[in-house]
Amino acid sequence: MRLLSVRMHAGKDGKHVSGAERIVPESELEETVLSLLRRPEEYDELSLKIEEVKSYELIKLRLPIRSFSFKSPKEAREFALSLLVRSGIPKEVANKAISLLAKGANPKGGNMRGAVIMDPKTGRRLERDTSRGVRTVRFDWKDRKRVREILLSSGYTERTVDALALASKNIHCGVLAELCWSDDPNYVTGYVASPSEGYVRITPLKEKGDPLGGRVYFVDEDKADKVIECLEKRFVLIEFPK
Ligand code: COA
Ligand code: AMP
Repeated sequence: MRLLSVRMHAGKDGKHVSGAERIVPESELEETVLSLLRRPEEYDELSLKIEEVKSYELIKLRLPIRSFSFKSPKEAREFALSLLVRSGIPKEVANKAISLLAKGANPKGGNMRGAVIMDPKTGRRLERDTSRGVRTVRFDWKDRKRVREILLSSGYTERTVDALALASKNIHCGVLAELCWSDDPNYVTGYVASPSEGYVRITPLKEKGDPLGGRVYFVDEDKADKVIECLEKRFVLIEFPK
């Protein structure tokens, strides 16, 4: 049976409002397209892309999930900083990443369309286009329905289902650590992910109502081209433990 990558993005008034991706057997194409079509609440533009998956890598979930709550974004960010340092990122560079997301990483204002790529040694930004950044695409859970059921019944959110898969692909591709918080003003939980710390949910990484968010991927400069190629181009399916 052919495997297909189905990708949807929707926009309104020139702004991105929703993006999602599934990798499914051809027999599930129609129901997948319908479910992606129903995702954005409103849009004035929607694109659907379907692409055959000719080859893919199957990886196992290696990031245990932990969750931590704090009284304020200040304390939560200090904790995120400590996790990044424990993951091998020098303190000044980790601090730079947190400040960058806090003030908005797009030099033209607003949010980026992808992630910042930052060299952990120098703190230099390596993405070619600092408004676009780099996007992780071409990944999904091998058995999304089961993973969703397990995670939602354990009290995690839909976002965790998607972000845990994304972070798993990132680490597989060679990202040393990732820092993320959403640009959704109503969603203040973010995370740090790394091979040593796992997937660590942290709340609140920003104040409610704050429209800024983003992702920073720490990647060694000499490996950046290969890592970015993997993030953007290689298909990866993630297997959740039985
Ligand atoms: N944010 C903002 N704009 C986006 C976007 C995103 N996540 N994804 C796509 N776009 C817009 C951009 O304008 C982009 O043009 P650009 O390349 O100049 O930035 C345009 O759509 C086309 O993007 P493209 O990469 O060709 O789209 P695609 O058809 O390959 O689909 C998505 C990619 C939408 C599936 C992917 O970007 C995405 O968002 N995946 C979901 C990841 C996820 O699960 N996130 C949740 C974590 S909680
Ligand atoms: P979200 O978790 O969807 O709220 O996204 C938070 C931020 O992550 C966005 O503002 C983008 O900067 C970035 N981002 C969104 N989608 C991707 C992706 N597929 N890969 C990397 N970064 C992304």
